[in-house]
This record gives sequence, structure tokens and C-alpha cells, in this order.
Amino acid sequence: MVSRMQKQCEEILDEWSNKIPTDGSPGDIDVFPYLPDYTGSVVSHTLFSMPFNGLAKRTFSSISELTLLANQAQPFNIPGEQYLPTKKYRRANAIENELTHTFTNMIQERLKKRSTGEINGEPDLFDMFLDELNEVDTKDKNVHPMVIHEIIQQCKLFFVAGYETTSNLVAWTIIMLAVHQDWQDRAREEVLQVLGNKNKINADHLGQLKILNMVVHEVLRLYPPSVEVSRVVEEETSLGEFYLPKGAMVMLPVILLHRNPKIWGKDVLEFKPERFAEGVLKAANGHAAFIPFGWGVRNCIGANLAVWETKVFVTLFLRRFSFEISPTYAHGPLVSLNMQPQYGAPLILRKL
Ligand code: HEM
Repeated sequence: MVSRMQKQCEEILDEWSNKIPTDGSPGDIDVFPYLPDYTGSVVSHTLFSMPFNGLAKRTFSSISELTLLANQAQPFNIPGEQYLPTKKYRRANAIENELTHTFTNMIQERLKKRSTGEINGEPDLFDMFLDELNEVDTKDKNVHPMVIHEIIQQCKLFFVAGYETTSNLVAWTIIMLAVHQDWQDRAREEVLQVLGNKNKINADHLGQLKILNMVVHEVLRLYPPSVEVSRVVEEETSLGEFYLPKGAMVMLPVILLHRNPKIWGKDVLEFKPERFAEGVLKAANGHAAFIPFGWGVRNCIGANLAVWETKVFVTLFLRRFSFEISPTYAHGPLVSLNMQPQYGAPLILRKL
């Protein structure tokens, strides 16, 4: 996957390079809007063998809109309100239908390719889901649509979970390196040392980038793209002094845990990647308090992929540019579904 990621990444870096004046002066570019194209193309291309074209982009933006509609703050919910023909629910239903149609077509296309033997190389996520489909009795007319529906839901989950979360992580990592020039220098030095004059990067290289690894962990601590993790209580239980009835929703605010001075120490709000030098547990002073990707059996299945995507992008970026934060930057982490830099990530870029 790394070589595919590199290709997608270099395309964006070429575009930035072309925006920098040729007379040697630096360019001022807001890099934030470009990053979802990188993570989106990794999900569509690398996981679903689907070109990152107009259809894929539309699918991502429809899913983002749907997620936004689903999470719109409202004072209370009326049971069954989703069946009322309000503007919000009409729009949500229209998007749902469009997505079902798009993913059904994608699945049919993949099934056709599988039957004509047009697929070579590694199986993608569609193949894995379709293999599951083959395991149930597909002749049963009642089961088949249910399984297809389940595959579509899984595809949507991957499209939404692997898109803006990771592009926000890349953005915050770049912003932190732009602000903390000492860490930028250290990370670049390591990148140049590990890569030498090799053009192509691989998994071994990424594994050797210890400084960058610490930086990414510290960014995940201070700016966790998912600010909370939630669970529905399956059996009534009690937790400390709380009684939790079956069906209750419990939310764990990741961001509060990551910024608690009792756990991390007085310097909790400072950017100090070195706290991760001896691993996550040591950084959190023995507490299980670093949970950017959730916790337990339902934790994030894409955690490693997200960190690798970030490392690929930042490695190639450090190799080609030096950068500082633009005077137009305003620090405004927006804590909504994902934690994102709401005023973008404008940088002063210099070619190296
Ligand atoms: C920085 C990037 C990411 C962050 C911060 C993140 C965070 C999370 C969190 C907090 C959860 C809930 C875990 C829990 O409830 O314990 C989750 C679930 C999930 N994530 Fe990620 N994620 C990221 C990237 C990705 C990527 C790249 C993919 C795949 C392409 C992905 C796929 C998923 C899936 C499928 C689930 C649902 C797992 C389940 O319910 O069993 N995520 N993620």
C-alpha cells in the first residue's frame, strides 16, 4: 500500500510545488483543503480498488453531509421523528437512496469482474465482504438482500471512518511541525538519514522513523480526530457509583482524558513528543489513558493504516519542503464530529 500512497501523495506535493514562485521566494498555501483528497484516494483506491474520480468524491461528500445531518445538535428527539417529511429527513433519505444505488452498482461491478476473472492482485475490501456473502446461502431470497444491505453499511462505515479523521491527523501533524521548528528539523534529519537518496519509500523506512512516530502520537493526544468514544450498554450494570440501564448510551470524552493533568502531568497542554519516547504507557504514567482509536474489541480497525498514511505524507512533505506557519493562521480547533483546524492550515512553503 505504501507505494500507492506515495503516488497519491506526490501528486498533491507536485501541485503545491507548482504554486511556489520560481524566483526562490516562498509560497503561502492553505494545505488543509488538499488533504481529504489524499486520504479519500487511499480509501477508494487502496481499499476498494476504485479510482478517486468524480463519483468517489461525490460519495465521500454525500456521506459527510449525511453524518453531519445525523449529528446536528437538537434540544431533544421525538421518537419516530425520522419518518416525518421534514427538510432534514427528506434530504437524509435522498442521500441514503443515492448511496445505496452507488454502492450496489460498485458491488455488482466487482461481482462481474470476479466472475470474468478480470481481477488480479490482492483482494480488496469488496472481495472480503463478498466472500462473506458466499458463505451464507445466497439462494435464500430473504437473506441475500439483507447481506447486501449489510455490505453497503460496512462500505459506508469505511468511507466515513477513513476519510476526514485521517486528513485531520495529517493536518494537525503538519501544523504542529510548522509551529515547533525544532521538531520539524529533528523529524527531517531522521527522514533524510533513513531514506538517503532512495526515491521510493517502503514499510521498513516508515518503521525506522522514531521521531515522527513520537510526533504523531503527541498530535493524537492533543488533537484526537475523534473526540469521544461511545458504547450502548448491552446488559444493565453499574460503574462505580453509576447505575447503567440496558440501552443507555455511555460516552467517554477522549479529549478530556488526553488533557488531564492528573494523568499526564503539569505540562499536559504542552507539545512534547518526547513524552512518548519510551512508549504509550510510560507517557501516560501507567494509566490506560491514550485512546485516540477507542478501546477494547470495537476499537478502530484502521488505526495502523491511519498512522502509516500520516507518516507517508509527512515524510515526503518534509523531504521536499521546509515550512512555517503563515501569519494568516488562526488557531481554532473545531470540536465537532472530528477535531479539525477550522481556519485551515496556511503555511509558508519553501522548496528544498
Ligand atoms: C486518525 C484517524 C482515525 C481515528 C482517530 C479513528 C478513530 C476511531 C474511533 C475512536 C473509533 C471507535 C472505536 C471504539 O468505539 O472503541 C473508530 C472505529 C472505526 N474506524 Fe477509525 N479512526 C481513524 C481512521 C480510520 C481509518 C483510516 C479506517 C479505515 C479505512 C477506519 C475504520 C474504522 C472502522 C471500520 C471503525 C468501526 C469499528 C467497529 O465498530 O467495529 N478508521 N475509529
